[in-house]
Amino acid sequence: MSEEGGGSPHGMWSSRWLFVLAAVGSAVGLGNIWKFPYLTGSNGGAAFVLIFLLTIFLVGVPMLMAEVLIGRQGRNSPLNSLRLLVQQHRRSGWWVLVAWFGMLAGILILSYYSVVAGWALWYIVLMSMGAFEGAAVATAQETYAAFTGNPWLVGICHALFLALTVIFIRRGVVKGLETTNRIFMPLLFVLLLVLLGYGMTSGGFGRAFDFMFDFRWEDVTTSTWLMAMGQSFFTLSLGMCCMMSYGAYVPSNASIPGTVAMIALISTGVSLLVSLAIFPVVFVNGLEPGQGPGLMFVTLPLAFGHMPLGALFGFLFFLLVSFAAITSAISMTEPALAYLVEEYNAKRSRVAVTLGVVCWFIGLGTVLSFNVLSDFTVDGSRTIFAFIDRLTQNIMLPVGGLLIALFCAWRLPRRVVQSQLGIKREGPWWLWQLLIGIVTPFSVLTIMVLGLFPCLLNGSCTT
Ligand code: PHE
Repeated sequence: MSEEGGGSPHGMWSSRWLFVLAAVGSAVGLGNIWKFPYLTGSNGGAAFVLIFLLTIFLVGVPMLMAEVLIGRQGRNSPLNSLRLLVQQHRRSGWWVLVAWFGMLAGILILSYYSVVAGWALWYIVLMSMGAFEGAAVATAQETYAAFTGNPWLVGICHALFLALTVIFIRRGVVKGLETTNRIFMPLLFVLLLVLLGYGMTSGGFGRAFDFMFDFRWEDVTTSTWLMAMGQSFFTLSLGMCCMMSYGAYVPSNASIPGTVAMIALISTGVSLLVSLAIFPVVFVNGLEPGQGPGLMFVTLPLAFGHMPLGALFGFLFFLLVSFAAITSAISMTEPALAYLVEEYNAKRSRVAVTLGVVCWFIGLGTVLSFNVLSDFTVDGSRTIFAFIDRLTQNIMLPVGGLLIALFCAWRLPRRVVQSQLGIKREGPWWLWQLLIGIVTPFSVLTIMVLGLFPCLLNGSCTT
């Protein structure tokens, strides 16, 4: 276990900064730009947004702290970090399963994430051809339907995105991420502001704002809780040891609470900003907020199609979204990649290619869910895409997160956690312990059980 605590203040600042960049790169991606708006649209707007914010700060932030601190304490890939910690503190070897579970979740998520990222790649091409200049609503809808309806084209874009991800991985996490995040992230933020400006002047902003923030309790269901909590895990890259693997590179003297709060704020800010840009377009054009995964790919091209310099902005936007997706995709593979390299001395590039190929094959199920197999359901109601999405986001990530929280709260010695978090006084320590040891696990468990079995609430499960 190497403890890199010394070094010049400048060196340490740079390392902490690199961690923030990498973690923000992992957190900010299609989850914020593509998924958050459509889940908000199909889960009742403000009800979803408020519960999402609640779960981000009550469950997500403590969980993120737990992952980073375990990673920093272990200083290895998640699996070997956990292995080391259970050996050192004489705990059950079963805890290591959390890392296996995380690696599997990462691969499953990447399998569909790369399909949607492939859509974004195609939209770079469409934008550069000016396909949406002055476009009517029907044109945007038909373009999306025609594209996702073409399995060959989508399959190729999916492969292209995975190939790009592999190329970045081969350059190494730090090198691969540095330029991307340092330059492209701020630029993406600027473009989001441009979109927001368009949204504010489009005439639909008031309705969009109400839709997102005019909260009514009667709109909240157990499913809202489950979806919102799943999204808070997904957007902060939690529950699959991804942040644990990045935590291993954090310098010892960087403050975990401060860093984590910054990451959560940036990620949440981006999600809200994108939605405030998308929903005005929805309402002004009489579109359906709950239309599902196509929401961003129909609304934003319309916005770009009707603003000055729209083709250029649109081209840049989809380019930046693709980069944001790459930095997230890299982080999904990191737990498995770091482990395989560590354990079998395998070449990073070879492992990366293998993971890419595996994800491509599994992802074909998602590619086909939007065309040839759109009527095929895995469990009687969900396409392959919807099934994998629900399995990972609403089951695997929360279960992984729950176990990580329990491990951190009840299996790591107090002094280890205290020194990792820099908590010295009794009051804050008990607050933290209450949060990570009781509030977080209890909330996750309750939300999952009631969300998955709503019949428990009205006693109709007995049939
Ligand atoms: N947080 C990423 C996003 O919002 C997705 C992700 C999930 C990344 C899980 C890593 C692990 O796009």
